[in-house]
Order: sequence, then structure tokens, then C-alpha cells
Amino acid sequence: MGQIKIFVTRPLPEQALAVLRDHGDLSYNPEPDLSRDDLLTRAKGAAALVTILDDRVDEPVLAALPGLKVVSNVAVGFDNIDVGAATARRVIVTNTPGVLDDTTADFTFALILATARRVVEADGFLRSGQWTRWELLSMAGMDIHSKTLGIVGLGRIGRGVARRAKGFAMRLVYMDVARAPESVEQELGVHHVSKEILLRESDFVTLHVPLGPATRHYISDGEFAQMKSSAILINASRGPVVDQEALIRALDGQRIWGAGLDVFEGEPKVPVELVHRKNVVLTPHMASSSIATRTRMAVIAAENVVAVLRRERPNHVVNPAVFEG
Ligand code: DGY
Repeated sequence: MGQIKIFVTRPLPEQALAVLRDHGDLSYNPEPDLSRDDLLTRAKGAAALVTILDDRVDEPVLAALPGLKVVSNVAVGFDNIDVGAATARRVIVTNTPGVLDDTTADFTFALILATARRVVEADGFLRSGQWTRWELLSMAGMDIHSKTLGIVGLGRIGRGVARRAKGFAMRLVYMDVARAPESVEQELGVHHVSKEILLRESDFVTLHVPLGPATRHYISDGEFAQMKSSAILINASRGPVVDQEALIRALDGQRIWGAGLDVFEGEPKVPVELVHRKNVVLTPHMASSSIATRTRMAVIAAENVVAVLRRERPNHVVNPAVFEG
């Protein structure tokens, strides 16, 4: 070996690097930052690129790396990659599905609980010395048990959230482009409803859809207008699924009660209008971030690369069309 260049754009756990080391010249950026220019310079000649969500892999990047065979994204989402352009150049794009569903569902519930019960606000209240007496309605929030949870997208993560919600005796409604099989609906205790009903009846609306043309700004002014004024929006999918300016308007106008957000439009920038609010819980795109899960994701991404370099078909191909014709 030795002549095949693998470029890893950001820090990865040693377990993943170890998978890659035997399969080519491993070139690795151990820093959390990498500018586009540095990516282009340092990845020059690479046959394999291991990327994270902050790496934009578009046509100019692909054009600058003509020997590229695989872009292995350490994420289940791949909206940072121009998959069409990669497919046109017969570059295989891979992702890491399946291992982060429960971790992300756990965290979705953390956001539900923290937002409804004002956990972060209460923590700040106590630490800043404002807790001087017990008051009946101090930090009073919203109940979770027995409330209606509206799940937008009943994929693997949405189903994980439904399973957890059953333990809270919640009523569960969902919508998806494809209705789930009856057996799944029965097992989860979920009811398929229209978008309109979901928005109108849910106390919590939680989003679990990939970002694409059909889901960009899926929740905007019109949707907020249909939601209960006591409703809480949870987003651990992709920032642009929610029209962030419309969300700020909805919060300003008390159209909804609060929001728990792990993702943002234009992240890592978060608008000051959100940062300064008490009725939102904000986290830095970390829903899948348990040590075990993120390590597993990195190892899977490395295994995807190795499969391509061995001329095998990786387990998680985003653009199977590259194998056709
Ligand atoms: C993903 O995998 O797409 C998450 O957003 C980050 O883990």
C-alpha cells in the first residue's frame, strides 16, 4: 500500500484512524478547523475523503480532487455534500446510519423535558443567587405526561422518540410522506394524521425529517399560526427545516410557548434573538453526541472508506446510482 491517499478533515477517535491506517497514506487534520482553501490544498491527490458536516463538498471541491473515489461523511445526514455532482463524477458518497437513532431519540427527550420544565433557566436562576425563597409558581412549566406529541417523520429516530414517549403516557400522532405499516403503528401506539391536525392538536411538535427541497422551511409562519399557543417546538433534525425568522416571530408574538433546538439555520451562528430568550433551550448540534455513538459513527465512516478502497460495495451508500451502468 502507501500510494493511496486518504484525507481525514477533522479529529477522529483513534479507533477510526486505526481502521484507515493499513489501507493507504493517511493524511489527517487533527485541528477542529479547516478552511475551504486548506481542504483543497491538503486533500490534493486524495482517493478518499472523510468529512464532517462542516465540510462543504460541492462541485468545485470535487473538480479539484479528480482522483477522488469516495466521500465518507461521519453523519447520517449528507446535506453538506452535493450528491448529484458526486454521482455525476462517479464518486461514492457514504454515511453512518443506524447507530445514532437511540442516542438522538434520548436527546430529543432531553430537549422536551428541559424546555417544558425550564431546566436550563432554573439552573441559571439558582447559580446566579436568585433563589431566595420557595414560591408556589416559581419556575412552573408545562407537563409532559398525558400530553400530545406530534412526530414529524416516523423514521428510525422518530420511532425511537415514540417509544420513549409511551413511557410518559403521551398521546402520539405522526405524519410522514409514507404511512408506517399498521403493525408499526400498533406497536408504537401512534396515529397517522394530516399536517394540519398534527399542528393543531400537538402540545409538542418534534421534527425528524431529512433536509431537502420538500422539507426546507417546513415549519414557517403558516404552521406556527396553526399551533397551540402552549405548544413547544423541538428540532433535532436540520436547522433549515424551520424558518428561523418565522420562529423568532412566533416566540415574540407568543404564538408558541417555547422551543428546544439542537440545530439552526446558518449554524454555528445562532441569532441573538434566540440566545437572549429564556423560553428556548439551545444546544450545539449534539443530539447524537454520546462517546460510544460518535466513536461508532467514525469507525463506520472509516469502514466505508476501506470497502471502497478494496473495491467492495460499502454498507452505507448514499448514491447507489454510481454502481449502475
Ligand atoms: C447526523 O448524523 O446527521 C447528525 O446530525 C450529526 O450526528
